[in-house]
Amino acid sequence: MKRVLSGLQPSGQLHLGNYAGAIRQFIDLQSSHEMYVFVASYHALTSMRDPQQLRHNIRQIVVDYVAFGLNPDHCHIYLQQDVPQVTELAWLLACMCPKSQMDKATTYKDKVARGLPASVGLYTYPVLQAADILGVDPDVVPVGEDQRQHIEISRDLAQRFNHAYGNIFKVPEVMVRTDAGTLPGIDGQKMSKSYGNNIDPFMDEKPLCKRVMKITTDSKTVEQPKDPDTCIVFQIYRAITGPDDPRTDALSQRYLTGGMGYGEAKAALFELILDHFGPARQRRTALLQDPAYIDQILRNGAIAAGEQIEAVTRRAREAVGL
Ligand code: ADP
Ligand code: TRP
Repeated sequence: MKRVLSGLQPSGQLHLGNYAGAIRQFIDLQSSHEMYVFVASYHALTSMRDPQQLRHNIRQIVVDYVAFGLNPDHCHIYLQQDVPQVTELAWLLACMCPKSQMDKATTYKDKVARGLPASVGLYTYPVLQAADILGVDPDVVPVGEDQRQHIEISRDLAQRFNHAYGNIFKVPEVMVRTDAGTLPGIDGQKMSKSYGNNIDPFMDEKPLCKRVMKITTDSKTVEQPKDPDTCIVFQIYRAITGPDDPRTDALSQRYLTGGMGYGEAKAALFELILDHFGPARQRRTALLQDPAYIDQILRNGAIAAGEQIEAVTRRAREAVGL
């Protein structure tokens, strides 16, 4: 059985972009793969300075993973800080990593341009990410399009290390849903936790409806035909239904023929969110009442991931001469 590893930063409430780009793939893969899904808490320190908020987000992301449909019986769910060996592994990899490789990482430049502190942690973020990945010996790493470069860096570091010290790391494949792309937020920029433009499918109905109604559209009248492919409402709709869904084709036709206003399209999107995420919303309410269950999931996950990552770290430690 092939092994899969991925994770998300607990830097804010998860949103439809995280679901469409990342979490949906985890759920699709879990019945046929050995899964490791973690919370990248150390990475979140590159953008967060509020300990209480961080603790809250970490818990919340685990609840949301399970609410969205990750099954702890099929998937090891763990916190990065419960397996601190990844930081040791990150050091071993950092010593193999040319500085020029970090200089080329576009995420660093983007994040600094957005106002994040230009810390050494942020600069070497992809090295820690490589340790998360290589420590688990995965075959496949499913992520959103914007993470592709980081997975390429992980592959490159694995190859450099193997070239110097023998066959220590498995070189994993990246998996990006070709149909997903990058989901726009309500203002048309990439939907992101930190842009204030996201849609959280777990919001209460009223604020959720308001949020959907706020999506930016052009000023075409009800009668005019509209282009679904350039409309944010339609793009979000399609990301939830997935490809080849008759509902998406039907909505697309209504755009093209005219006679449907954006208000109606937004109402259809709101209904779709409630329908598609109804079971997840219910599960989430129940999970929030059961913190002991979440603790148990994390304990089991930490044991499984700990054994795996310690074994790989030991291999790497010995290989370098420690
Ligand atoms: P954010 O930008 O909201 O902080 P992260 O950088 O933590 O999101 O991304 C977590 C995962 O979700 C990554 O695999 C990323 O590629 C995916 N992802 C985030 N935003 C989007 C989006 N707008 N569209 C598609 N995938 C996304
Ligand atoms: N950088 C990823 C993000 O912003 C989070 C992450 C950290 C990750 N380590 C990882 C993703 C390892 C996949 C594999 O979403």
